[in-house]
Amino acid sequence: QAQTATDAWRPLVHFSPQKNWTNDPNGLIYFKGYYHIFFQHNPIANEWGNMSWGHARSKDLLHWEELPLAIPHGEEYIFSGCVVWDKEHVSGLGDPQKELLVAIYTADYPNKKQEQHLAYSNDDGLTWTKYLHNPILDINLLNFRDPSVIWHNSSKQFVMSVAKPTERSVQFYGSKNLLNWELLSEFSNQGELDMIWECPSLAELLVEGSEKETKWVLFNSTQGVQKGFVGMQYFVGEFNGKTFTNANPPETKLFVDYGKDFYAAIPFYNAPNQEVLWLGWALSWQYAKEQPTFPWKGQMSSIRKLSLINSPDGLRLKQEFRPNFSEVEPTFQIKDVSITKSKVLSGIKLLQNKSYIIELDVEGTTSDRWGLKWQSADNLQEFTVVGFDEIKKQWFIDRSKSGKILSPGFFKIDSAPWHEGESRQLRVWVDHSMLELLAQDGIVAISSLRFPLGKKENLSVFSDKGKLDLKQIRIWELK
Ligand code: FRU
Repeated sequence: QAQTATDAWRPLVHFSPQKNWTNDPNGLIYFKGYYHIFFQHNPIANEWGNMSWGHARSKDLLHWEELPLAIPHGEEYIFSGCVVWDKEHVSGLGDPQKELLVAIYTADYPNKKQEQHLAYSNDDGLTWTKYLHNPILDINLLNFRDPSVIWHNSSKQFVMSVAKPTERSVQFYGSKNLLNWELLSEFSNQGELDMIWECPSLAELLVEGSEKETKWVLFNSTQGVQKGFVGMQYFVGEFNGKTFTNANPPETKLFVDYGKDFYAAIPFYNAPNQEVLWLGWALSWQYAKEQPTFPWKGQMSSIRKLSLINSPDGLRLKQEFRPNFSEVEPTFQIKDVSITKSKVLSGIKLLQNKSYIIELDVEGTTSDRWGLKWQSADNLQEFTVVGFDEIKKQWFIDRSKSGKILSPGFFKIDSAPWHEGESRQLRVWVDHSMLELLAQDGIVAISSLRFPLGKKENLSVFSDKGKLDLKQIRIWELK
């Protein structure tokens, strides 16, 4: 049966492969002026299988150039992992006259074993040679995966975080040469325990508003039998080159993003200006196979800059969209508006089929519920709502009437808690089937896909049962 391309659902500035399946982003690295992403890829079919690493790069984080398949599978599947720049040629691999990139990833022998393997590249990640003496790390486990390596400056070593998924555990290993790894410690049984742990990573994040204060954060993705939430969690604490110590009680659960469609994010190695940047897979394992797109399935989230913010509840993750469009003039701007019921934003018609960020900056409100509503122009029963519920004190994305609904885990309303003491401000990045909400200066994140069936839609700002006073509405087109 011939399938029709679903171009209307293909994101414009977020990365998706030209064709076939993708899941996790892998080997994120900034190198010689390019942001490189590698990704879990089935090179021959639009479904999970034949797992290999695809490759794409971008100079500006908005335009992606897809490159030839980077690491093809053999007998082993090439599962998730990272890429580091072996600046000093400590591994002794490849041509010493040329720059060297090293990929460390999980080799999956289906239903047998998972080991950590290495491959290297002397041509900026275009082609890779699998290391002759793989594995570089093997502890004889069926589930042992997703290595993520950083350079830990104070202990002068590379540090790998790697998951033992079914044990809800992350192991840390240290190495001087990227080839020999020694166990440093293990962190387990804290936070979210109902689901398996995958794709761990460690990052040192700046505390906003401080001069140079930093804290270590351990991230990991969780999935499994649905107990409500599917996605990523984080722990805030210290890492001393050996052990990660959680600053919060072990039962504290901190979630990265309250939408269903943000998973397996890992930081970029070597990001410019010492910023910590990351991106995730904008899909959920719950219904990934059902994503109705063709000829591809899977896309990446926006790139987000990470830091920590001192909220009344303690240190919390803050995410900001990159590139930093706030530095450029908005495409549209309306100042000091009051809304009762709703107001259609007429300018948005020009942005039909474009990608844009819309920001609402609230001065005050007597409303029960306010936000943004995208409504199909030809079917008023089809709409998506994003906003804040003043009664429940919750941010939300409601996709219950947004077009095609998938099952079973395609939750209709994704909601996130309010943070006391922070602004009523929201930004939504719209890119065809993708919606990413960052609210209250980025402490709140909800990323959700939707599959509208209508061709055109109107966007309005609404306020239920009361007045919404806005300092401004700003819209940036991204192109
Ligand atoms: C996470 C994950 C990883 C694994 C990869 C396989 O989404 O399950 O743990 O390496 O996908 O494609």
